[in-house]
Amino acid sequence: MYTEKVMDHFTNPRNVGEIEDANGVGEVGNASCGDIMKIFLKVEDNIIKDVKFKTFGCGAAIATSSMVTEMAIGKTLEEAMELTNAAVAEALDGLPPAKMHCSNLAADALHEAIKNYMEKGA
Ligand code: FES
Repeated sequence: MYTEKVMDHFTNPRNVGEIEDANGVGEVGNASCGDIMKIFLKVEDNIIKDVKFKTFGCGAAIATSSMVTEMAIGKTLEEAMELTNAAVAEALDGLPPAKMHCSNLAADALHEAIKNYMEKGA
């Protein structure tokens, strides 16, 4: 049912945890299941230097969270804002249709964290 990449990121998630001196934090909840995802960013000179996440959710949510952190590190804020949930699911070689809603958390939380960073800097 799950691709190898999903299983890899679920069983060995990258960048789990918190960033103590994060300068952007985003949190989103998935209305359909009640799961929650939080993303911490360390931004320097408009580049995302580090990302960590905490997800209270299903395996697909953990896998997409892990993947989005890998995709976001090293990107500019503008590039990271353009990362979509669909792109994250695609990078995992797809998710089962019943689990596509789980991927909604990942990029959304990233975008919230970027907005939080920008609000603080403004
Ligand atoms: Fe809630 Fe997947 S079932 S995020």
